[in-house]
Amino acid sequence: MNQSLFKEICSTFPTGVTIITSKKDNIDYGFTANSFTSVSLSPLLVLFCLDKNAKSNEALNKNEFFIVNVLSKTQEKVCFQFANSELSPKERFENISTKISKKGIKIISNSCSFIECKIKEKFDGGDHYIYIGECINGEINDEIKDPLIYHRGKML
Ligand SMILES: Cc1cc2nc3c(=O)[nH]c(=O)nc-3n(C[C@H](O)[C@H](O)[C@H](O)COP(=O)(O)O)c2cc1C
Repeated sequence: MNQSLFKEICSTFPTGVTIITSKKDNIDYGFTANSFTSVSLSPLLVLFCLDKNAKSNEALNKNEFFIVNVLSKTQEKVCFQFANSELSPKERFENISTKISKKGIKIISNSCSFIECKIKEKFDGGDHYIYIGECINGEINDEIKDPLIYHRGKML
């Protein structure tokens, strides 16, 4: 199968959209990810996949922390700001309202929910790394009901 058919078939599977935020040497990192999924209940594990060339790899080492911010329908612009590889880590957070987590990572305001995790494992996954995180805390924003959904290259 060729790459474009593979991508098109994968795009027929609707997903939510997250921004994975992290921090290293006082620099905040963030990127848009739809590869997030829950993995295990005991222990509480999640995973996401990240391109091996992505800047956020700098900040994602074993025992460091990251936040999974689950985006709401109102956050399409935020989604594309954090998917823009021409923006520096600092520029991605411009005009974005945030608060700080227990472990010092930026949480993106107006998201549906967030989970804070500690990195347990990093596996090779072709041109991506597969990161496994253990969840340590999180919160649901009850005021926000509608998630951002990605399907066939469009936001729903
Ligand atoms: C809806 C959507 C989902 C994405 N999901 C992922 C993902 O799961 N993993 C990934 O590596 N890149 C994903 N990307 C692309 C990254 O957000 C984008 O390449 C980002 O610029 C990576 O950061 P970098 O500039 O540090 O490489 C996604 C982009 C969009 C618009």
